[in-house]
Amino acid sequence: STILTQSEFVDKDSLSYPFEERGLQFGDGIYEVIRIYKGEYYLLTEHVDRLYRSAEAIKIKIPYNKEKMTDLLHQLMKKNNMENDGKVYMQITRGSAPRDHIFPQEVTPNIYAYLQDLPRNEKILENGVKTISQRDVRWENCYIKSLNLLPNVLAKQTAKENNCYEAILHRDGVVTECSSSNIYLVKDGKVYTHPATNNILHGCVRMAVERFLKEENIPLIEEAFHIEDIQHADEMFLSSSTSEVLPVIQLDNVVIGNGEPGEITRTLQKAYEQDAK
Ligand code: PDD
Repeated sequence: STILTQSEFVDKDSLSYPFEERGLQFGDGIYEVIRIYKGEYYLLTEHVDRLYRSAEAIKIKIPYNKEKMTDLLHQLMKKNNMENDGKVYMQITRGSAPRDHIFPQEVTPNIYAYLQDLPRNEKILENGVKTISQRDVRWENCYIKSLNLLPNVLAKQTAKENNCYEAILHRDGVVTECSSSNIYLVKDGKVYTHPATNNILHGCVRMAVERFLKEENIPLIEEAFHIEDIQHADEMFLSSSTSEVLPVIQLDNVVIGNGEPGEITRTLQKAYEQDAK
């Protein structure tokens, strides 16, 4: 398959990096995952905006503007004749240079993007998933979509080892988000989620959920909830580009509501499907 590197298109197998690459040695870079439905990017503008915000936050200068970036991503889709459901993974690092914590003087960012098929997971979208709670041990700049994913990887692995789909993260009991998704609690017809501070990634699907809730006249309360609040929840769901709007039916030993995906969750799933078409 064809991948985008810098602003060129090459065969996937022809790309290689020197071992002194700052993404590899320091996690000194950022990334995006954008969902694709039938060969069309979903929430592309939101993702490209966040890519540039993340780059700016870690002082990487992307060598072209958002319009050019968007155009390159569209070209990538065309060159691969992509017509399936899938995702694009895109990564930008500070570049390749002899190892030194300090930014190298002369360095250009390494950029690549490639497509992968990703069918929708109808079964879990229908039935919901179980989750496990974990301490959020990440740093204080989680709004940056940084390559440093070790805490997220370890949390997700622990979830997997406990037959769970996701880890719900909390700082001193205050729920922030999940290892690779945002999390919501429904109580008495209102939806609660952590405010978009530096402690969470501002999800693009989270932005879409905000819009759907407004359209449905369902109040969104951007106030953090406590892990203890979950036992009184009517419904819970999570959101991300790969998971969409996904019902959460259990946390640790606590069954959420009646143990089945709730009504507001279903409404949002329908809104998502309409929007993504
Ligand atoms: N993860 N929070 C974290 C920590 C994430 O890694 C993600 C996305 C989200 C949801 O963001 P969005 O709605 O923009 O996809 C929230 C991607 C999918 C990943 O790392 O694979």
